[in-house]
Amino acid sequence: MKFLYCGDVVGRSGRDIIIEKLPELRKQLGLDFVVVNGENAASGFGITEKICKSLYEVGTDCIVLGNHSFDQKEILTYIGSDLKLIRPANYPDGTPGRGASAFKTRSGKTILVVQVMGRVFMDPLDDPFLAVEKLLKTGKLGEKYDFILVDIHGEATSEKMAMGHFCDGRVSFVVGSHSHVPTADAQILPKGTAYQTDAGMCGDYNSVIGMDKEEPLRRFTRKIPAGRFTPALGPGTLCAVYVETDDRSGLAKVIKPVRLGSRLEESLPI
Ligand SMILES: [Fe+2]
Ligand SMILES: [Fe+2]
Repeated sequence: MKFLYCGDVVGRSGRDIIIEKLPELRKQLGLDFVVVNGENAASGFGITEKICKSLYEVGTDCIVLGNHSFDQKEILTYIGSDLKLIRPANYPDGTPGRGASAFKTRSGKTILVVQVMGRVFMDPLDDPFLAVEKLLKTGKLGEKYDFILVDIHGEATSEKMAMGHFCDGRVSFVVGSHSHVPTADAQILPKGTAYQTDAGMCGDYNSVIGMDKEEPLRRFTRKIPAGRFTPALGPGTLCAVYVETDDRSGLAKVIKPVRLGSRLEESLPI
């Protein structure tokens, strides 16, 4: 299977670069399935129904979220009706939405998408490792599922790496999100799971993690908030990770970072 995960889409710059590049990327790479992290798509904070639909229209099969899942109030009532929209699985019981979803690709393959949130330097939540363990009990890779994605949305690289090894050999791909900076550690772990600590963001890299520089700089240097965080509006760069799996085992054969756009050095799997 040919799979693409696009990192956190931040504001208009992120949305624009996805809309501009994703349809072409889908064709060029012959992608079977595309997951986009949309937790910052609405002005940096959360996502709306309208934005979800605009991402689906350009070839997104599934949207994952993160700590910003519920920043836009309307999502509380919308998320339950959208089976393709996933928030972290380790939120408290009763939280609207779902932490995992199974999909059938157009080519008839079955894919399980799971998202959990890390707990190191993040709001306390249920144990993400236990949440993943429970979800993996619903079916095995190479049997029920042709592809399993685990997105670990977190701050600490150690926690994400630990999740990679925790899942090694049992899922196709463990990807980190949330830091908005792509890491240079794309690899296939010893038992066959593709892994990258963070996919990076889709947004303007002339910024502080996607936000206009002025207010973050003011807060870091003077410690006094003087305004709201707003997304930087310069040309965006699309950061994603491409993974190709073996059709029989569902384990990874190829992992390559994808970077397309104006500021970071470009990278494409072909
Ligand atoms: Fe984010
Ligand atoms: Fe986040």
